[in-house]
Amino acid sequence: MTSFTINGRRVTTAVEDDTPLLWVIRDDIGLTGTKFGCGIGMCGACTVHVGGRATRSCITPVAAVEGAEVTTIEGLDPASNHPLQQAWRELQVPQCGYCQSGQIMQAAAMLKDFPAPSDAEIDAVMTGNLCRCMTYVRIRAAIKQAVGKSAVSETNAAVEPKA
Ligand code: FES
Ligand code: FES
Repeated sequence: MTSFTINGRRVTTAVEDDTPLLWVIRDDIGLTGTKFGCGIGMCGACTVHVGGRATRSCITPVAAVEGAEVTTIEGLDPASNHPLQQAWRELQVPQCGYCQSGQIMQAAAMLKDFPAPSDAEIDAVMTGNLCRCMTYVRIRAAIKQAVGKSAVSETNAAVEPKA
């Protein structure tokens, strides 16, 4: 049994301790915004926050988040209006969209360490988040636009799982 908080909601799961957190998030809790890409920690599609830090949920055993606060893309902002999400929409960043939840979660965590990141800092932190559609230039632009617009926050509001 593992208990943790996800998007402000306390959950308990009875899956094996070594079950990837990603499976629990998607299959047990029903939050499907977090994506499976490589399954080996190399693409960033599965990025969530654990204790506010960007974490690859595909290689994180669920037991490792016992008692922790997990945030997924659904919990970043209750109205999907985090400054990054606003900028993503305004600059039409996504193409197929598959990698974008992970991109935004990685960027949101980065802005806690680098509130006004340079291009080099953005590239260094975001380099592990791959995009088959090559949206990297728009991702960088959206991060810079979000930083210029307002302070970055994380709401962690309770979000009901999808049916
Ligand atoms: S699916 Fe987790 S890093 Fe690729
Ligand atoms: S938008 Fe298609 S993989 Fe990134």
